[in-house]
Amino acid sequence: MRAAWTCRHRLLPGLLALACLATVAVAAAVPLTSPPARAADPVVVLDATFEDGTTQGFRPRAGETVAVSTAVAHGGTRSLLVSGRTASWQGPALDLLDEMVKGTRYTLTVWVRLAAGQSPDQVRLSVQRDSGGTSAYDQVVGDTAVTADAWARLTGTYVLAHDVDGLSAYVETAGGTADLHIDDFTMAYQPTKPVQTDIPALREVLAADFPIGAAIGNRQIIGDQATLLRRHFDTVTPGNALKWDATQPTEGAFRWADADTQVGFATDNGLAVRGHTLVWHQQTPAWVFTDTDGTPLTSDPADKALLLSRLEAHIRAVVGRYGDAIGVWDVANEVIDENQSDGLRRSRWYEISGLDYLRTAFRVAREVAPTARLYINDYNTNVPAKRDKLRDLVTRLRAEGVPVDGVGHQMHVNVQWPSIAETEAMLQAFVPLGVEQQVTEMDVSIYVDNSESFPTPPADRLLTQAHRYRDLFALYRRYADELTSVTLWGLADDDTWLDTFPVARKDAPLLFDTELQAKSAYWGIVDPTRIDPTPTPTVSPTVSPTVSPTASPTATPTTGLDTCRATYTVTNQWPGGFQASVRITNTGGRAHDGWTVRWRFPDGQRISQLWNGTVRQDGADVSVTPTSWNSALPAGGAVEFGFLATWKTSNNRPVGFTLDGLTCTTG
Ligand code: XIL
Repeated sequence: MRAAWTCRHRLLPGLLALACLATVAVAAAVPLTSPPARAADPVVVLDATFEDGTTQGFRPRAGETVAVSTAVAHGGTRSLLVSGRTASWQGPALDLLDEMVKGTRYTLTVWVRLAAGQSPDQVRLSVQRDSGGTSAYDQVVGDTAVTADAWARLTGTYVLAHDVDGLSAYVETAGGTADLHIDDFTMAYQPTKPVQTDIPALREVLAADFPIGAAIGNRQIIGDQATLLRRHFDTVTPGNALKWDATQPTEGAFRWADADTQVGFATDNGLAVRGHTLVWHQQTPAWVFTDTDGTPLTSDPADKALLLSRLEAHIRAVVGRYGDAIGVWDVANEVIDENQSDGLRRSRWYEISGLDYLRTAFRVAREVAPTARLYINDYNTNVPAKRDKLRDLVTRLRAEGVPVDGVGHQMHVNVQWPSIAETEAMLQAFVPLGVEQQVTEMDVSIYVDNSESFPTPPADRLLTQAHRYRDLFALYRRYADELTSVTLWGLADDDTWLDTFPVARKDAPLLFDTELQAKSAYWGIVDPTRIDPTPTPTVSPTVSPTVSPTASPTATPTTGLDTCRATYTVTNQWPGGFQASVRITNTGGRAHDGWTVRWRFPDGQRISQLWNGTVRQDGADVSVTPTSWNSALPAGGAVEFGFLATWKTSNNRPVGFTLDGLTCTTG
């Protein structure tokens, strides 16, 4: 049914907005015929045009000035001018605490233009969340080019998933402090379609085979998402809330709010919980690997003992807190690097402790949770080289008596890769070991390489995706005796990590769409007769994107043409911290597969987290190597990675960028 009317208000007071929301929700909740339901019109809850001559609630974030202007206007004759900015983060802000309802997806739109005479810059739209004296910043629309000659439209969606005591939307610039105009701000929501009740519950369809799970965050345990989750799934995995950076961001200061909420929801609703994850090289705070004065720990016995005691304390606290509520733990995550001859990832854990971090982690987890199943979890376990290295490690640890009960296959795959045969070989490889197996993080990206980007998923990709789900689940069901659960990395396409990984673009990798309606992918599992059959492929669709030959560093002659360019951009900065991106363009004539990029920080900056690469920092010297999917850097190609870091008194640009030892130009 289509709502015959919309709620349109100018800066609608909160209660009225809620009433409007409730009315529409009821209006939309009509009996469902066949899926999927049709969308209703969006409801505009805030609308600021400045035509009434007031700032309509917009205020400065700090000491800058906001005032109504008639110099330019996007619609009508007035806009809001922001002047006197002294930092890029300053800009117009609008309080939303009374306007935004937790769990509802809003579309925020604003038009931005620089004031006359200002040089081009980039602008972005974000939301600031305040809670108990700390603030968090969520980007709604990323850096967008803007000039003084034309209006730029920033539009993006946002869902508030936390309890907050302050909330505002704001516009800022990427670098400069130009005066700027904003106009025609709106905040609207799309009334959700009802959760389908006339389709089979996934968990019932798969009941004879294995429990089916979904990764969750706070957004999945409220409103319609929670209804969908309860209806179709047996188990949940908190996607971030149990990781080290979430639970123990600083030593001894544990934060349990998100994990307690999510595990509590699961317990209240009879859902089993997979605990993810205790030891990993990512999302682990820098303090874990440094001593109290900030010096990186080394492999000397005292440092190693300190690291292992921190690990033990962490596991005792986290695993101990949830007791029987968490029946499976990903004790270790992503410890294999198939490009090392011994197969072991050179993480800080490994560099400091060798294999002892794994021995300690499993021993302590078993001691604290004697009945929990303890897993080693990894991605690309279908890739033969990686699979075999993982099998060798599991064999070795179990032979030593390390209590590894199971192997987790993440299964972050795509519509083309890997083949069913390779996936079957992955499952078969672990059968002789007598370990349990689980699929732990499955999603099927609609993209087959990093250059693709579709504003909406093309129909042929969604059909191919449905075939992939059909065929992979048919395989899993044949291996139901080996697989003790299958988990998808998310609930629905409205919230997937693949929207920002490995590059920002809308992905649609799950079984339910952005409006929580069943996709063909769902029917591929539940009733394949309801999707078109697969056309017979004429060529093998199998492409392995991960294995790149390791070039011998001495064999390749370097020539004068062999050059590179490094582009370094600080994308956000605040007292003591900043976020930056590095783009390396291979401007030379040869490929750099399996590259290493290095630079030096001049001011004692320290990286705490890096994505799209693996980082090492030794004092001022930083080196970054690829992740599995971006190790190829062809002639003319580029790679980009980003990081969070700390700074103290100044934050000057790094120097001495090199690519595989070649000096890069900068800019
Ligand atoms: C992802 C989360 O989904 C994101 O929200 C977060 O920003 C990064 O981590 N393999 C894993 C998971 O083991 O922990 C990762 O989860 C996805 C890849």
